[in-house]
This record gives sequence, structure tokens and C-alpha cells, in this order.
Amino acid sequence: MAKPGILGRSSSMPRSNEGMRLIFSAVIGIMLGYLFGISFPTVNITKLHFPSSIVSYIEDRNSGITTQTLLNHAWTSANSHKKNNSDSKSDEIPKIYVTSNPKGAERLPPGIVVSETDLYPRRLWGEPSEDLTIQPRYLVTFTVGIAQKANIDAAVKKFSENFTIMLFHYDGRTTEWDEFEWSKRAIHVSVSKQTKWWYAKRFLHPDVVARYDYIFIWDEDLGVQHFNAEEYIKLVRKHGLEISQPGLEPDRGLTWQMTKRRGDREVHKVTEERPGWCSDPHLPPCAAFVEIMATVFSRDAWRCVWHMIQNDLIHGWGLDFALRKCVEPAHEKIGVVDAQWIVHQGVPSLGNQGKSENGRAPWEGVRGRCRKEWGIFQARLADAEKKYYLDQGITPPNSTSV
Ligand SMILES: *[C@@H]1O[C@H](CO)[C@@H](O)[C@H](O)[C@H]1NC(C)=O
Ligand SMILES: *[C@@H]1O[C@H](CO)[C@@H](O)[C@H](O)[C@H]1NC(C)=O
Ligand SMILES: *[C@@H]1O[C@H](CO)[C@@H](O)[C@H](O)[C@H]1NC(C)=O
Repeated sequence: MAKPGILGRSSSMPRSNEGMRLIFSAVIGIMLGYLFGISFPTVNITKLHFPSSIVSYIEDRNSGITTQTLLNHAWTSANSHKKNNSDSKSDEIPKIYVTSNPKGAERLPPGIVVSETDLYPRRLWGEPSEDLTIQPRYLVTFTVGIAQKANIDAAVKKFSENFTIMLFHYDGRTTEWDEFEWSKRAIHVSVSKQTKWWYAKRFLHPDVVARYDYIFIWDEDLGVQHFNAEEYIKLVRKHGLEISQPGLEPDRGLTWQMTKRRGDREVHKVTEERPGWCSDPHLPPCAAFVEIMATVFSRDAWRCVWHMIQNDLIHGWGLDFALRKCVEPAHEKIGVVDAQWIVHQGVPSLGNQGKSENGRAPWEGVRGRCRKEWGIFQARLADAEKKYYLDQGITPPNSTSV
């Protein structure tokens, strides 16, 4: 589409003296540009590609003003001279540099900076402002293989239209899911043989999921007959839980007392463990603790936890013991929701995606890696805390991590 103005101009012949003036100013412009090219060999002044003599000259003359301001000023005048062959007085427009902008975006006017995004699909036509008829406030992700299709279908149906559904496919099979109506509005991410925490680190950056009040990061083998997501969120809000999970049934085979469902209450935040398991009743595994199979994070808690997830420690073992670093006081803001509970079916899933080595079953190699990662994570966290205290000139406490 051509603008009427351009059409109008091109259809009428330019008067000859106007044409001459255009050519003349173009020649002058090129000459000035050439001269500037000589005196300022590198045009990008703000990046300090200046001959050092110029920098020191400016600094000497104007000590007291920051170099950045001066360079911005120099750049602006250089620009206006290049664009304008008249000796203008309008070289006072300062270059934009906003330190409160996100790192790296300081040169943009704040009004154009969009530092967060969302996962809302849009249409290709119409008014952008009318694209979104619903903006879900909650996100639920499942890490799935096609073998759990029926189970995931049942689980997803427990989440209303107020949830964005996101599936991480570890087996590369995505088209089979299209038989479900909800699959069309879901977000599918397919990367072969990766873990829940690998996907979470890469695709759930806090600035990407900033629109969601709560983020469910769930395994695929959870039974949801007794679970209602909207009711769950009501309870989480009511009890101020920043990090939570539904209670687990049945209790046989459960590792921890904390995550076991209690029939007589809405939520619980503390428990009793076997004698000697808890050095402090406010610390894991007696409090400030949930497991990582069906975790639900508030927006703020996730922003912290995301930063704690290590790129190479993909199984997330040990993360459950460290979640408490992200909320304060942890024994009040981490808890288990008993009134909305789930069944842990314990289907070996990702384990089968391992590799058979030295005659060991694939799942054994995966399990070994999990344990190894746990040790690495503990050591890394302990070292990081120790370093922090030493850098602050404080004697490190014995150990704050489990
Ligand atoms: C160029 O100079 C003219 C005349 O001084 C002025 O009106 C105009 O705003 C200047 N343009 C720029 C881009 O500085
Ligand atoms: C979705 O959220 C809205 C606003 O919070 C609420 O009124 C509605 O009941 C929710 N939908 C369901 C199915 O719970
Ligand atoms: C913990 O620190 C105390 C002194 O602050 C020390 O006496 C004790 O031996 C330390 N314990 C361990 C396990 O390092």
C-alpha cells in the first residue's frame, strides 16, 4: 500500500530548481559524511571505539561530567551534523540511556521496553487488542510420553479454561495427542528424552510465565480422581502457600511422611518423621518441604526456584530439600494440600528412556545418575553459601543445606 503523499509526488514532475537543490544537498551531505568518516574513524561513538586521544581530550576539558554523558552528547551532535548540513542549534538532544531499563536495553526509551512475555496464542488477523478472549492466570505443565495418553487426558480435564496447558514431550510423539479437543489449545514442546526440570529451566523462564499466578509442574503418572484444580488454588491462597503439592495416596511406598495425605484437614505444613530424621522440626523432611513430582509454585517462588535449577542437573534431585531457600518463613509457606489429593501411580516412564549399559537395565543407569546429581547439587549449594559468607567477611555457619 502506497501512501497518498508519495503517489502524489511521484505523479507530478519536480520543478527543475527543486531537483537541483536535492542533488546539491546530497553532494554536500556526502562530503560532510566523508569528512566525518575521516575525523571519526569508527562511527559507533557510544561503544568507545574512539581514538583514545579524543577521549582523554574530552575528559580533560570536562572533568566532573561522566564520560558516558559526554560521549552521548558527542554522538548526538555528530548525528545531527550529518543529517543536517545547516549549523543547527538543535544538537542538545541527549542520547537515550536509562539505567533502570533491563540490562542491555538501556538505549531504548522505557515506553517501548517489553521485558516479560506470555504464552497466549494470538490470531493472525483483526485488532491485536481484541485477540485474547481469555487470559489464563494459571499454568499447568506435564512432561509426557504417549504411553500415558489416557492418564494425561484425564488429568488435563481437571483443569478449567483458566489454565494454560503445556505438554513437554520426551518421546517425540505429538500428533497422536490431536485426538483430544484440548490438545489444540495446548502448547506442545517436543525435545527428545529430556526431563521435567530440563524443560522447566529452558521453557519456563520467569519472564515468560510472568502472567501466571500459579505454575503447576507435574509428572505424568498422577491420578487425579480426587483433585479439583480451582479448589486447590483457593486453598493455596487461603493458607498462604507459595510452594505446595497435593497430598499423596496411598501411603504405601511413600518415602516421606510430609507428603502423605491427611484426612482430617485442608492443608498441613509440618509433620513427624521417624525418630532422628529431623534435626529441627521446622526443617525438611519435617517441614518446609514438598516433593518434586507434583509441585505448584507461586509466581514469586518460581522466580527464585528457576534460578536455583542447574542446567546440567536435569533430574532435580535434592531440589525438594532446597526449595525452602526461596521463601521466608519456609515452614509457613510450604505445605501439602490434603483436601485436594492425588494418587501417585509410580509408573516407570522416563526411566525407560535411559540407555542399557554394562548389562544394566536402562532405569538403573537413570537412577544412578539421579543419585549422582543429588550429591553434586548438595555440594554446589553448600559451596555457594560458604563462599557468600566468606566474601561478606562472615564465618560460615556449619551447614545450612541438607
Ligand atoms: C535542520 O536544520 C533546520 C534549520 O536550522 C531545522 O529547522 C531542523 O529542525 C534541523 N533538523 C534536524 C534533524 O536537526
Ligand atoms: C475461572 O476464573 C474466573 C475468574 O477467577 C472464575 O470466575 C471462574 O469460575 C473460573 N472458572 C472455573 C471453571 O472455575
Ligand atoms: C559447628 O560449629 C561449632 C562452632 O561454631 C563447632 O564447635 C562444631 O564442631 C561444628 N560442627 C561441625 C559438624 O562442623
